Amino acid sequence: APAELDERIRVAKATLGERVVVLGHFYQRDEVVRHADFVGDSFQLAQATRSRPNAEAIVFCGVHFMAETADLLSGPDQAVILPNLAAGCSMADMADIDSVTECWEQLTELYGTEPDADGRVPVIPVTYMNSSAALKGFCGENGGIVCTSSNAETVLEWAFERGQRVLFFPDQHLGRNTAKAMGIPLERMPMWNPTRPLGGNTAPELDSAQVILWHGFCSVHKRFTVDQIAAARQTHPGVRVIVHPECPMPVVDAADEYGSTDYIRRAIAAAPAGSTFAIGTEINLVQRLAAEHPEHTIFCLDPVVCPCSTMYRIHAGYLAWVLDALVGTAERPAAVLNRITVADDVADHARLALERMLAALP
Ligand code: 13P
Repeated sequence: APAELDERIRVAKATLGERVVVLGHFYQRDEVVRHADFVGDSFQLAQATRSRPNAEAIVFCGVHFMAETADLLSGPDQAVILPNLAAGCSMADMADIDSVTECWEQLTELYGTEPDADGRVPVIPVTYMNSSAALKGFCGENGGIVCTSSNAETVLEWAFERGQRVLFFPDQHLGRNTAKAMGIPLERMPMWNPTRPLGGNTAPELDSAQVILWHGFCSVHKRFTVDQIAAARQTHPGVRVIVHPECPMPVVDAADEYGSTDYIRRAIAAAPAGSTFAIGTEINLVQRLAAEHPEHTIFCLDPVVCPCSTMYRIHAGYLAWVLDALVGTAERPAAVLNRITVADDVADHARLALERMLAALP
């Protein structure tokens, strides 16, 4: 029963004390979020990973790539635990290391490896946080960097100082929306097509490319439409429409603002009482914001409920299970269940790409 699970989690956390830190992404269910020591967007959670260096275990209530990132940024003796190993990310799975490596080889063939007169290399790879550690490692190894939805523009500026163009993966929408906001014309953002035969991407548009986009997308944010925004404006005149930058470009263009999950949270918190918001992001966050802000009217743009099905796989039962297991472990939980570790052969390069992001921010 939910109340029993809630109590089990409270007791286990109280018993563990400083031995454990629980991190929760904004998209997690309320039954999970209420037990988190830190709740945040993906960038804030990466930072929070370093908040309790003495904790033996970091229980990450989020998805697999976030737990991998936590493993990369945490201390060597800290165990990162993902309560349900099936919590992946379909967007992250849309870029695999073999396809990206093949793309990279073709781009190297096309553009060469010589820097230009300003010392900028032909291509800088930029991966969205929503990607495997292997891809972060690929970026670290090849002069590239990681970004999240809260810092994509700053990271692209970093990349353009060092490179003539960018290969951006896996999310085409975040790449396109960010590059467009920076004034890059659409015709200079061709999409890489990994299904074409070798050499098949040497189309004329690659000659003038500034950002080469991968074909990945988020199946939750892809659902939002311009029609939904028009309907919201009709039924709620004066509504503020805020969407996540993983939404398709026409949706971002039709919205009033866009930003990361934390941007959305802060915009709502700062608004004068009585404001109305239509939000284009995952439903758990939208519903929680609506409950936390009874002074506003807040609703999801998509009338059909749209949870992130993989975030949803962490439920209170799994959290109770891993915490109970930690209580039963007297030693440092090196071999404890559901531990996420990044393989040594990619960890150093992946950490380098993450550290470049952290250092690039003001
Ligand atoms: P942010 O928390 O960075 O906004 O994005 C969350 C996410 O993972 C969406 O896929």
